[in-house]
Amino acid sequence: MMNLAGKRVLIAGGASGIGAATAEAYRQAGAETAVFDISFKAKRSGEGRLELPVDLSDAAAVDAAFARLWRHWDGLDVLVNNAGVELVATLEETTEAAWDRLMGVNLKSVFLCCKAALPKLKQSRGCIVNTASQLAFVGAGSFTAYTASKAAVVNFTRSLALETAAYGVRVNCICPGAIDTPLLRRQFEGKRGPQGTIDDLVGLHPLGRLGRPEEIANCILFLSSPLASFVTGSAMLADGGYTIQ
Ligand SMILES: NC(=O)c1ccc[n+]([C@@H]2O[C@H](COP(=O)([O-])OP(=O)(O)OC[C@H]3O[C@@H](n4cnc5c(N)ncnc54)[C@H](O)[C@@H]3O)[C@@H](O)[C@H]2O)c1
Repeated sequence: MMNLAGKRVLIAGGASGIGAATAEAYRQAGAETAVFDISFKAKRSGEGRLELPVDLSDAAAVDAAFARLWRHWDGLDVLVNNAGVELVATLEETTEAAWDRLMGVNLKSVFLCCKAALPKLKQSRGCIVNTASQLAFVGAGSFTAYTASKAAVVNFTRSLALETAAYGVRVNCICPGAIDTPLLRRQFEGKRGPQGTIDDLVGLHPLGRLGRPEEIANCILFLSSPLASFVTGSAMLADGGYTIQ
């Protein structure tokens, strides 16, 4: 087990799935965690943790949440940008409102949180891990807007890594394959999903199964740890081999 005692870690989008597993993994490693998520009903704090209800696509809400965070901690060591929504729709089915919501959560939230956190991360020589997707690198029918949002996160990560390298701030992203989370299950609710059945989706992964949220959490911890001290600007695939076929 990694020892991250004393590290202050903010997970943006950490109430469910990969984000919740990541927050738990950091706590197991001894870190203090703060979690921003739209699904929280109220602020909660206790034993090395803070949870705040925040719509991460809303600039004013993000500003207010960071102002609250800086009253809780006077610095930050790790920012994990993990909030995401899926949109299963062909281009012709995609409305402007759906596009704006998707980009707001999957891309604008990353911009807003990085901008708010960067001054503190420069002071701590901290790091950022963004959650992109294996679909940043390949096309997928009915995921046109989603794939665009995740490809943008990958190149945002690379360029920000260049901007911050001189300050010792590392910026990376994790690109999961299909991970068994509420987000993934929603695509198959009561119908065949965009990639057929769950079994069809499993068949697209050479390792022959869906990933588990904890497996992505482990990669995020690695990328933010001293073990990855020479890793920046990388897009780490954890996709069970989805993209190598
Ligand atoms: N599950 C997969 O197969 C998979 C694959 C590749 C990438 N991802 C990415 O991983 C990340 C986590 O997804 P997950 O599968 O754990 O899904 P999830 O639905 O379990 O978790 C997503 C979290 O984001 C939060 N969120 C959504 N909109 C928000 C907003 N406006 N403001 C604040 N929080 C918001 C949700 O409340 C939720 O807690 C997402 O960025 C997703 O795109 C998931």
